[in-house]
Amino acid sequence: MRVLAIETSCDDTGAAIILNGRKILSNIVSSQVPIHQKYGGVVPELASRKHIESIVPIVTEALNKAKVTLKEIDGIAVTQGPGLVGSLLVGLSFAKSVAFATGLPFIGVNHIEAHLSAIFLDEKPPRFPFIGLVVSGGHTSLFRMDGFGKYQRLGQTRDDAAGEAFDKVGKLLGLGYPGGPIIDELSKTGNPKAVRFPRPVLAKNSLDFSFSGLKTAVVNYVKTHPEPPESYPDGLVKDIVSSFQEAIIDVLVKKTIQAAQHQGLNRIVLSGGVAANQRLRQRMKEEAIERKLKVYIPSPIFCTDNAAMVGVVGYEYLKQGIRSPLSLNAFSNLPL
Ligand code: KG4
Ligand code: ZN
Repeated sequence: MRVLAIETSCDDTGAAIILNGRKILSNIVSSQVPIHQKYGGVVPELASRKHIESIVPIVTEALNKAKVTLKEIDGIAVTQGPGLVGSLLVGLSFAKSVAFATGLPFIGVNHIEAHLSAIFLDEKPPRFPFIGLVVSGGHTSLFRMDGFGKYQRLGQTRDDAAGEAFDKVGKLLGLGYPGGPIIDELSKTGNPKAVRFPRPVLAKNSLDFSFSGLKTAVVNYVKTHPEPPESYPDGLVKDIVSSFQEAIIDVLVKKTIQAAQHQGLNRIVLSGGVAANQRLRQRMKEEAIERKLKVYIPSPIFCTDNAAMVGVVGYEYLKQGIRSPLSLNAFSNLPL
């Protein structure tokens, strides 16, 4: 079964052709970073307008790269939510129109479920059940995943998402947008022990997260310096971001391992844009090995938003004969 998958939940226009939910025939992602960069964050109105311009060329490119025509496609999968509603609507309306015109089966996909499923594009995916950590710009949640469609949420952020915290600290220090990948690089040569930022763990056994206090701690630290962050010496910036990153990672690693132990599971899957973070990948692997847990992390390009992961989920539902109606609407807070 060849699935045409479309993802437009935030600021990346993605289209992919996926064979039998596992093999990538093409995966095109058009980034809008240059458009939003000067505003220091995604401007929803600009994002949806750019999706409108990009959707036809990106889908055409995905079909061409896979060397297939629409006639050789067996189903269409598209992100329904969560995300920015204007952005979601572009991909969803386009997918519905193609489904209507071709008569192809069509399915709306949950973006979080897609992130958790990106690992199935890997050569050696995990068996169910496993603990899934989703860390992105909009989400920080822990799930127990017993199969496609079988999720139990164990914890989530009470305020900022991990990626949001990276981006806000990046903006505060004038590093550019998005802050996550920039902080990832700068931290490599910083001292993670330079500043002791708080590690918010909430109640003893809680698997919820809270990063707004950590972000405020960085703001307060910056206030103690008389000069603006833009004129900090490079070494100071690196030490601040490295210490901040380490605090976030400490909490993410601790709670994910705690979740695996609570649930008696020995497999952990990381997903979402922040799972592209090199230090997080390394730390999670190291600490899991010590506890005889196995960690699975998609390649960085499948951690950040892409349509291939939407194709994985779409295939699982379409092959069971599950379809969405053409009246399906986008839902910015779609729960999982
Ligand atoms: O999954 P994603 O592409 O979009 C959402 O669903 O939100 O995640 C984007 C987030 C941004 O906050 C970005 O700064 C963060 O993922 N991110 C990273 C890295 N790459 C992307 N954060 C830390 N280190 C990275 N290497
Ligand atoms: Zn995402």
